Amino acid sequence: MRHLLEIDDLGVDELHQVLALSTDPAPPQVLAKRGMALVFEKPSVRTRNSMEMAVFQLGGHPIYIQATEVGMDTRESVEDVTRTLASYHACIGARVFSHATVERMAAQDLVPVVNMLSDVAHPMQALADVLTLSNELADGIPKALAGRSIAYVGDGNNVFRSLALACGMLGVEVRFAGPPGYWLPEMDRDRLSSAGVNFTETDRAVEAVAGVDAVYTDVWTSMGQEDESAQRFIDFEGFRVDEMLMEAAGPQALFLHCLPAHRGEEATDGVMDGPMSRVWPQATNRMHVARGLLAYLLGDCKEVL
Ligand code: CP
Ligand code: NVA
Repeated sequence: MRHLLEIDDLGVDELHQVLALSTDPAPPQVLAKRGMALVFEKPSVRTRNSMEMAVFQLGGHPIYIQATEVGMDTRESVEDVTRTLASYHACIGARVFSHATVERMAAQDLVPVVNMLSDVAHPMQALADVLTLSNELADGIPKALAGRSIAYVGDGNNVFRSLALACGMLGVEVRFAGPPGYWLPEMDRDRLSSAGVNFTETDRAVEAVAGVDAVYTDVWTSMGQEDESAQRFIDFEGFRVDEMLMEAAGPQALFLHCLPAHRGEEATDGVMDGPMSRVWPQATNRMHVARGLLAYLLGDCKEVL
C-alpha cells in the first residue's frame, strides 16, 4: 500500500509519472464506482475543491467530512475512523493539525492515505508548484527544470519543506530567506542535503532572490499558529515580497504563492496581481496534480509501486 504523506514518499521517477498523468487529456477512470473520503480538521478552498473535482474527473465520488463531525480521537479513535472509511472508500485524504494523525491513518495500511496538509508537510501543493514551474519555465517538461532556481521568502513551514524537497528532486536550486528562529530544523536541512538538494539559507531576502527564476512566499502565520500572529508580524517585517524585492530579483522572476494570501503582510497587492504573478495558474494546477496523483496511486501504474 502506498501513501503520500510527504512529497519524497514518491521516488524521482514516480514524481515524473505523476506530473505526466496530471496533464493527461484523457484521465483513466480509476475511481469509477469508487469513493474518496476527504477529512478536514482545518478550512480549505483550493484543496477541498481541487480534490473533489479530481475524484469526479476520475469517475469517482468524493465525500467531504469535517473532522468535528466524525470526532477523531473524541467520538472514536483515528484508527477506528480510518478502518471504517477504508471499508467504503478506495482512498482517504486528510488535512490535519498534527502530522502524527496522517501517520496513524497510513499505519492502518488499508487504502492509500494522502496528506492534504499537516503542520509538517503539504505535498499536494508541492506537486502543483513544480507543475507550474515546469509549465512556465520548461515548456511543460519537468526534466528541463534542472538548473533553474527558486527563492522562498518567509516562514520555513509545511509548504516550504515540501516545496524544497520537490524542487530538489527535479534539480532546482532552492534558496531560503527568513528571520532567525523560523528556518527549517536541522533534521530537515540534513534531509535536503542527503537528497542532494542545492540549498542555501540566509536572513537577507534581497541576497536570496537575486537572479532567481521564481520568488515564492506563504503566510507568516499558518493555521493552528494564530496565537503567535502578533509576534510573527513583528518578526517577519522585512520579509514581505513587495515590488522592491521583485526588482531585486530581476525582471525574469516569477511570483508564486500557495494561497490563501494575507495581502499586505507577506506579499503586496502589486506583486500578487502584477505581471510576473502566476498564483492563479498555480491554484488551477492543484486540480490537475490531484488527478495525476490519484491516477497514479489507484491506477494501472500500481504494479510498479
Ligand atoms: N493552498 C491551499 O492548500 O489552499 P487551501 O488551504 O484553500 O486548501
Ligand atoms: N502554511 C499554510 C498553508 C495554507 C495552505 C498553513 O498551514 O496554514
